[in-house]
Amino acid sequence: MTDPRILATTPETLERAAETLRGGGLVAFPTETVYGIGADATDGTAVARIYAAKNRPRFNPLISHLPDVGDALAIGAFSDMARRVAETFWPGPLSIVVRRATGCPIAMLTSAGLDTVALRVPGHPLARDLLARVGRPVAAPSANRSGRVSPTLAAHVAAEFDEALALILDGGACPVGLESTVVDLSGPRPVLLRPGAVTREDLEPLTGPLARPAADSPITAPGMLASHYAPDRPVRLDVTAPEPDEAYLAFGADGTGQAQANLSPTDDLVEAAANLFQMLRALDRPPFRAIAVAPVPRHGLGAAINDRLRRAAAPR
Ligand code: TXA
Ligand code: MG
Repeated sequence: MTDPRILATTPETLERAAETLRGGGLVAFPTETVYGIGADATDGTAVARIYAAKNRPRFNPLISHLPDVGDALAIGAFSDMARRVAETFWPGPLSIVVRRATGCPIAMLTSAGLDTVALRVPGHPLARDLLARVGRPVAAPSANRSGRVSPTLAAHVAAEFDEALALILDGGACPVGLESTVVDLSGPRPVLLRPGAVTREDLEPLTGPLARPAADSPITAPGMLASHYAPDRPVRLDVTAPEPDEAYLAFGADGTGQAQANLSPTDDLVEAAANLFQMLRALDRPPFRAIAVAPVPRHGLGAAINDRLRRAAAPR
């Protein structure tokens, strides 16, 4: 028996999927690499739902998908070389990390607080049709729960998620079957962050020699996150009584009075995740000497929030 959430792809189901995405919901869709679980990349709350559904123990930055090369070039700061790479390999199984362009609409949670964004124009016609209908960048990690293999069939996706995922567009088997190549072209030294179907040999004529991920780069091995956004100011955790020179980042109804910001006045961990990076950034400024953060529950998305807070608070 087929899962009722799996829908054959027609203009009607594509339109329904696009509406679901525009409304902040989650949709799984095929790309030429693997199935992705997508959300509106400009909506931090929608993106928080991806992390919750995947049960990811931490926030790693996600790839934002766009229907056309021009759409991607408009929201990233592409060097001439990065633009040539984009125009050569897109649409296709390649993700390019660039700095955010001024006014880049990608939510801070999508990039896990980083100043860079990973962008991809997939080659799969159904994915591009869906993305064009959504009219916004769609963040989509592989549609599997954390620690499990990436799905290449709609039935695999259905087996991974409960009703948090309402809609799975069936596009048959993914032809590549392996996640996209990720190349970081945001800095002076191009770095191959994740190997994939667009190979080193394909890229190097345009990029020159590609470095391996350094220990301090955003990922150290395929899919592995080492460094991440950290505020300039020291961060103190589990604080219930902030010092006068600290910015207080509260959580829940108790903290509203004295706080400069509140991750979620209603104890909602999805809202807190959506606010986390942008609030840390907003409080990382004079006259504050440090950022004091209230205790955040450790269940559900709270695990990933606490993981990020611990890293932000680690001595450096
Ligand atoms: O083929 C694919 O890429 C699939 C389909 C659905 O497009 N998506 C996918 O997403 O594999 P995910 O989230 O499983 O992998 C994203 C990779 C991770 O290794 C992540 O660390 C890296 O991209 N990444 C994303 N944004 C980054 C950034 N700003 N800097 C460095 N690495 C980044
Ligand atoms: Mg994955």
